[in-house]
Amino acid sequence: MKTDLLPLNERSLALAAELIRAGETVAFPTETVYGLGADARNESAVARIFEAKGRPNDNPLIVHVADKEQILSVAAEISPAAQKLIDAFMPGPITVVMPKRPDIPLCVTGGLDTVGVRLPVHEGARRFLRACGCPIAAPSANSSGKPSPTTARHVWDDLKNKIPLILDGGACGGGVESTVISVCGSVPLLLRPGLVTAEQLTAVLGKIDIHPAILRAVEVDRAASPGMKYKHYAPRARVLVLDMPARDACRVYDAAIAAGKKPLLLWREEELSAFAPRHALPFYAHGDASIAARGLFAALRRADDEGFDTVLVTAVPTDGAGLSVMNRLLRAASFTVLHAQDAQKPFSSYE
Ligand code: TXA
Ligand code: MG
Repeated sequence: MKTDLLPLNERSLALAAELIRAGETVAFPTETVYGLGADARNESAVARIFEAKGRPNDNPLIVHVADKEQILSVAAEISPAAQKLIDAFMPGPITVVMPKRPDIPLCVTGGLDTVGVRLPVHEGARRFLRACGCPIAAPSANSSGKPSPTTARHVWDDLKNKIPLILDGGACGGGVESTVISVCGSVPLLLRPGLVTAEQLTAVLGKIDIHPAILRAVEVDRAASPGMKYKHYAPRARVLVLDMPARDACRVYDAAIAAGKKPLLLWREEELSAFAPRHALPFYAHGDASIAARGLFAALRRADDEGFDTVLVTAVPTDGAGLSVMNRLLRAASFTVLHAQDAQKPFSSYE
């Protein structure tokens, strides 16, 4: 299949809406990452999403709506907790898991009777959703397991010749996927951290639970958070999270070189001079984790494109947006975290 990559405008939106009506898939920008959308009510269209991404079919898709009124065409009911989240954070980078309406097929929800609903704030995403006129099921528009795409080019690299159209709306401002929170149990449960932070959710809801798999490798109850059991965000390169000062990180880098590796450091901008002449890129600056979030997936993809086989990335504090960054980093690293005392060891002991 030939893939068109077009700037998002009236003409490309008309084509996108036509493709969606014909049961096809279209990639589109949002404020978090690019999504791969299809009509959420059309089972064969939804099947095309799973096929293009190579996604396991028990991992549920988020359903995107154009406005708050459309939420009740997807969710069976809006609980008081759900209403608080809608009032406080929608439109925005949040997905609220609610009981689903019967006309949302089970192939969208991975067989669950709940559905994740998201109303993006990105103007291009909203124009796309309005043009389609139906709820749009959309996962991130990457090949399953790869870092999520934050530019149209990333989508092209993963899905060219597998989907008919990519709408280019520029780079995504957020960089990590939406916060996913379930309000189906007695206490709201944070399933995936994002740029709507745990602190903000607590301020609106009172108490929330934070799923243990967010920062730890634990056996996951599939029914509660199906997406967590899969390997995620992994570039080809081996990712190691370094929770140590810059001088120890230099030793790990040098050990990698001695072991014949081609390492890349992703570090705090203000400490980069400590690494010269090693390969190091800024990843985070002045304690602002939203900067790390914005550049995270692009940096992991760049490491692959430039032939690095090892990515040594600094740990970040887990408050605010930092929780979403560490959650993605730990998964990309298969939960391998090195501390200062590990910097003495030969590099082969980390593999
Ligand atoms: O920012 C985003 O959320 C992006 C853009 C395109 O909107 N989408 C996205 O979708 O990241 P995806 O499929 O890559 O991630 C969806 C996550 C998965 O971890 C999935 O398990 C969870 O949301 N999810 C979806 N529906 C769910 C449900 N009914 N119950 C529990 N988790 C659900
Ligand atoms: Mg994804």
